Amino acid sequence: MAERLEYTRGRLSEHDVAKNPLDQFAHWLQDAIADKVVEPTAMCLSTVGPDGKPSSRIVLLRGQDEFGFTFFTNYLSRKGQEISGSQWGCLNFWWGSLERQIRIEGSIERVSPEESDSYWRDRPYESRLASAASPQSQVVENREELVAMVEQVRIDRADDVLRPAHWGGYRLVPEYFEFWQGGPARLHDRLVYQRTADQWTIKRLAP
Ligand SMILES: Cc1cc2nc3c(=O)[nH]c(=O)nc-3n(C[C@H](O)[C@H](O)[C@H](O)COP(=O)(O)O)c2cc1C
Repeated sequence: MAERLEYTRGRLSEHDVAKNPLDQFAHWLQDAIADKVVEPTAMCLSTVGPDGKPSSRIVLLRGQDEFGFTFFTNYLSRKGQEISGSQWGCLNFWWGSLERQIRIEGSIERVSPEESDSYWRDRPYESRLASAASPQSQVVENREELVAMVEQVRIDRADDVLRPAHWGGYRLVPEYFEFWQGGPARLHDRLVYQRTADQWTIKRLAP
């Protein structure tokens, strides 16, 4: 617990970053891939329950464009239910070897059924089976019950495992970004982008 890392890999200046945070995100993601970060698209997604309590889990980023950040999951899962109740969510990337964190806040909406179908068709057969069978976030008796559910779907839908209506994509539409670069002596760089009308304003936060 006493270990203290000095962050020395880089600096982040308001003069060098892209004007649009989506471009800045794309640069940093490329850096993470080039640096061979393990699962660079793994992001922590936080949602809020009806009691105001937050919950977090990792999901994989499957698409990023000017409309937002897309991931796929079970709409009936805990996260799905929480998104139905409050559309607000937050994503967090931590790329340790680069000493970088990105925080993205926004509203979450479902992608179109066509977009979910298109992604579903590209998934391996075994992944489709598992997603069709698994009642994500529900209590199951034991692992054997889960395996039996998968085998039942394998028998029932031997020809083709169609996308169940309760499985699909979500898009977080960003309105706030923070790019964090670790710095020496705890003087980290934090640049935030905030959307005002059609423009992004960049500000620096104290570490
Ligand atoms: C590296 C990694 C990637 C994951 N990717 C996904 C994903 O893309 N979609 C998903 O539903 N769950 C994914 N999971 C599982 C989730 O973290 C979580 O256990 C699951 O979605 C249930 O969350 P919930 O009960 O809060 O809804 C991933 C877990 C890890 C560790």
